Amino acid sequence: MFENLQALPEDPILGLMAAFRADTAATKIDLGVGVYKDEHGKTPVLRAVRAAEQAVLADQQTKTYVGPAGNEQFNALIAELVLGSKHPALTSGRVRAVQSPGGCGALRLGAELLTVGGARPTVHVSDPTWANHVPLLSGAGLQLERYPYFEHRTGTVKFDAMLERLSSLPAGDVVLLHGCCHNPTGADLSIAQWRKIADVLLQRRLVPYVDIAYQGLGEGIEADAEGARLIAATVPEALIAVSCSKNFGLYRERVGALMVLSESGTQTNAATSHLRKIARGVWSMPPDHGAAIVARILSDTKLSEDWRNEVDAMRNRMLSLRSALSAALAKTCSAEMASVIEKQRGMFSTIPVTPEAADTLRQQHHIYMTRDGRINIAGVSMESIDYIAKAIGSVA
Ligand SMILES: Cc1ncc(COP(=O)(O)O)c(C=O)c1O
Repeated sequence: MFENLQALPEDPILGLMAAFRADTAATKIDLGVGVYKDEHGKTPVLRAVRAAEQAVLADQQTKTYVGPAGNEQFNALIAELVLGSKHPALTSGRVRAVQSPGGCGALRLGAELLTVGGARPTVHVSDPTWANHVPLLSGAGLQLERYPYFEHRTGTVKFDAMLERLSSLPAGDVVLLHGCCHNPTGADLSIAQWRKIADVLLQRRLVPYVDIAYQGLGEGIEADAEGARLIAATVPEALIAVSCSKNFGLYRERVGALMVLSESGTQTNAATSHLRKIARGVWSMPPDHGAAIVARILSDTKLSEDWRNEVDAMRNRMLSLRSALSAALAKTCSAEMASVIEKQRGMFSTIPVTPEAADTLRQQHHIYMTRDGRINIAGVSMESIDYIAKAIGSVA
């Protein structure tokens, strides 16, 4: 049965990680990896997570199944975290969340929901988008198209072209939007732009699918959810995929949720029943541990406060690195290169370098980044900034 299978080429990011591990140069710098790193180059377990984890373990009486929709306390709290507890879509009962294994599980769950009853709407994703959006969405049988999004040279959103494309789409098509901290570009929409997008979605009866995987790591926990909140307050139907991997540092615990918004509580309940059925047929029940930790943090005032402080610290560290790197690049590169880093938000920036320049940075300077020029800001350290700026200056 398997004799006809050919081994696949290595995933580019995993290949880059392996090449980094194999590099023996003392000056090597990993800007390719997709996780947060602190000033020691470590991806820490957050204080609030450790405290909540101990409390969860101390209180846990059973390891029995949690059910296909997961931990209902987590589901309610995560919806409040994203939308804010007083959001009309929540208070009117039009939104429900279903726990999933990470944001990836949520994205797939939502994609499968879009196909229920034989529907096959086209999903429009930004050009570029996070590479894993493609298999997660097309794996459910959905057709993907790209809308213009990013101007590589200036590092900004091509907003007019994006709006024009969305304004031409047929009713019922789905538009995938990054809630904040766009991956891979770091170029986000302003609130005024979100408002215009929300109006077009409403007018053209398009269905927004918001992916929010970095809440708190761009401008702030509340500010980063503004776009999703605005969308949910404007349109009748939407999906929101949430990941707790980055902002709770719970990567390997696989915690996320899919939120569904529809025109009435009855419709939302019906959609949720389909989500439970889909989950049952794929992973059956999501893992409990990480969601129990998040629920413990979000339901405890002291732990929540501590967690918010830790998220603020991660964000502020990345903002300081952005400013320092931008200042160093201003001395070695064009003003545009410097301003790109300063303007963009979140864990990633896409800088205007060619794939060949990215190869040179890796081969000659031991600086690892994906060939599209995506760098992980958290991979930079204050000590390495001048070295990175000089190296980029020599190839850009
Ligand atoms: C844009 C985006 N969406 C979703 C995810 C989902 O991550 P996870 O499944 O690890 O929660 C990621 C992770 O890198 C991401 O970058």
